[in-house]
Amino acid sequence: MDTHALLPNQRALFDIPEGISYLNCAYMSPLPRSSLTAGAAGLASKAQPWTISPPQFFETAEDIRVLAALLFNADSDDLAIVPSASYGLAVAAKNLKVQAGQNIIVLADQFPSNFYVWKDLARQQDGRLVTVPRPADGDWTRVLLESIDDQTAIAALPHCHWTDGTLVDLAAIREALDRVGAALVVDLTQSLGAMEFDTALVRPDFAVAAAYKWLLGPYSIGLLYVSPQHQQGTPIEHSWTSRIDAVHFSELTRYRADFAEGARRFDVGEKANFGLLPVLLNSLKLIKNWRVERIQPTLGAMTNIITERAANLGLDVVSAPYRADHFVGLRFPQGLPKDLADCLARNKVYVSIRGDSVRVTPHLYTTAADIEQFFSALKKSI
Ligand SMILES: Cc1ncc(COP(=O)(O)O)c(C=O)c1O
Repeated sequence: MDTHALLPNQRALFDIPEGISYLNCAYMSPLPRSSLTAGAAGLASKAQPWTISPPQFFETAEDIRVLAALLFNADSDDLAIVPSASYGLAVAAKNLKVQAGQNIIVLADQFPSNFYVWKDLARQQDGRLVTVPRPADGDWTRVLLESIDDQTAIAALPHCHWTDGTLVDLAAIREALDRVGAALVVDLTQSLGAMEFDTALVRPDFAVAAAYKWLLGPYSIGLLYVSPQHQQGTPIEHSWTSRIDAVHFSELTRYRADFAEGARRFDVGEKANFGLLPVLLNSLKLIKNWRVERIQPTLGAMTNIITERAANLGLDVVSAPYRADHFVGLRFPQGLPKDLADCLARNKVYVSIRGDSVRVTPHLYTTAADIEQFFSALKKSI
């Protein structure tokens, strides 16, 4: 079987009425129907708490770690369950060192959860936050490599920019950071699940992804990869469920100095979220069956059509190789038409405006008719 063969359309697995053109997975994905069912069953279990046994506080999280490890190409022990990207980034910031005068590198217009935390760390340590300006040609990697110097302590980056999908070659950045002994923190919220990622190649110190976009998961759950060298670090809270042998509920006041193995010490308190974890687990099963190496080119075929047609209308699009396959950012040389998003929404077309870019992000539920509907509504608006 061709491991990269395109996938057939999966709209039947989602609750998207005909006539809705939802091109906004980067905002939040719709939940697959089966994930919603799994979540409803999980939530219902709390109506009958006598059915919830101590091992169930841990099992779903463990199943999630195993499936998520495939997406990171990591060991399941290297993953923590977190409630948000910002939580994972706070864990990273607490466990990385910056000396006075050293710098932390971010991209221009980076997502705020991956900005404020570094701004604050730089302030606390008398360090400097260096914001790399957006390159006109979309080649972030080149400008990043020019910015890394022997004063760099941390680069905190995405795999692709959240406004327009422009790519960062994280493996090349890692090599440059190795030369100056700096740490790499990556926010995969806009890529994990839709884009192949390889922890073995990129070797991030920390990598986080909120689950409600390309992992097709619920809001308020995310995943944090912690490299083995940081797994003896300090969590930002002390949940009893992160200590060793926590499953023995009758012995919890025999306080334990040891944490559970690997990255589990960084799990959020009450990680056994009975309503949300089954949703994520089910969505990860779907992604495992589809496989990211097939999702990525399938979405790439859609975004190629969108960028070609947009270019024919005179819009600016970032071209290969600087754009992620699953992501399109369209810019209007004459400036954004007023009220564009509202105008499109009146035609049941849903996209996001981020900065000066119209973000168009399909998924496996997107049909040719959705793309047609987008362009016909766009033509009315410009
Ligand atoms: C790149 C990126 N990171 C993170 C998030 C979400 O951050 P948090 O989980 O802290 O709300 C988003 C949401 O749009 C995002 O685009």
